[in-house]
Amino acid sequence: MCALVGAVVATRAYYEGEFPTRTGPANGGCVVTTEVIAARNIDFAFGEGELRKQILFGVSFVVRSGEIVLLTGPSGSGKTTLLTLIGGLRQVPEGELTVLGRSLINATTSTLLATRREIGFIFQQHNLLEFLTARQNVELMFQLHPEVSLGEAREQSAYLLERVGLGERMDYLPQRLSGGQKQRVAIARALATGPRLILADEPTASLDSQSGREVVDLLQELARDRGCPILLVTHDQRVLHVADRVLSMEDGRLSEQPAIARAAT
Ligand SMILES: Nc1ncnc2c1ncn2[C@@H]1O[C@H](COP(=O)(O)OP(=O)(O)O)[C@@H](O)[C@H]1O
Ligand SMILES: [Mg+2]
Repeated sequence: MCALVGAVVATRAYYEGEFPTRTGPANGGCVVTTEVIAARNIDFAFGEGELRKQILFGVSFVVRSGEIVLLTGPSGSGKTTLLTLIGGLRQVPEGELTVLGRSLINATTSTLLATRREIGFIFQQHNLLEFLTARQNVELMFQLHPEVSLGEAREQSAYLLERVGLGERMDYLPQRLSGGQKQRVAIARALATGPRLILADEPTASLDSQSGREVVDLLQELARDRGCPILLVTHDQRVLHVADRVLSMEDGRLSEQPAIARAAT
C-alpha cells in the first residue's frame, strides 16, 4: 500500500514538473523527496599529471523542487565550474550527481544532452544573437524542441517577452535594448521551452543595482509561477532577498549560510 501511495505521489509530482529522485527510507517509509539536484562528494580537477589542478573538493548539496538557492563566493572559487557540471556541460568523473532524475557521473553524451534540454541557462553576458530580434532570439530555443509548432513557439515567445515587460520592443534588435532589457530577453529565452531547472551565472554582474534587482525579481516571479527551481550564482548582496537558501563556495569547498545571518542582511 505504501509503495502504491508513493508511486501515485511520484507520478503526480512528475506531471507537476517535480522530480522525485528518492523514496525513503528504504525500510518502507513513504516520504517522497523531490531533489532536483543531489550532489554528494563531488571532486573535480582540470588538467592531468603535473598540470592537474583540483577545483572542487567533496561538494555536497541538494536543491529541491521549487527552491531558489543562491551560490556565492569569491572569484575563482569554483562556482562556474560547479554550474557547468550540473548543467551537463562537462563530464563528472567522481562522486554522486543526480540532476532532474538522471545520474551524471560518467554519463553518456545523450544523457548530458537530455539534461541540458531540460535546463534554462542564463549567463553573465546575455549572449543574444545581435542579428536577430528579441523575439527571434527567444524563438530560437524551440529549435531544440521540434515537437512544438512554429505557431506555438511564436505565441509562447511573445507571451514571455510581454511578461518581462518588453511587449513593445520584441521586434527590436539587441543593440537597441539596454543592458537590463537584454538580460530580460535572456530570462524569457531561458524560460521559453518550459525548463525544469534554471541555472543562472552572475546574471546581474553587468547591470546597475536597480536593473539588477529588477531582473532578479522578475526571474523569481516567473520561476515561482511555474514552480521552477533556480540555482543562481551571484556576488550581488542586493539580490539575497530572493533566496530560500544561500550556499557559499570558498576554495572549492561548499558550505551553507545559516538563515539567521541572512535575515540580518
Ligand atoms: N577550462 C579551464 N581549464 C583550467 N582551469 C580552469 C578552467 N576553467 C576554470 N579554471 C580555473 O578553475 C578555478 C575556478 O574557476 P571558476 O569555476 O570559473 O570560478 P568562479 O566562477 O567561482 O569565479 C579558477 O582557478 C580558474 O582559473
Ligand atoms: Mg564564474
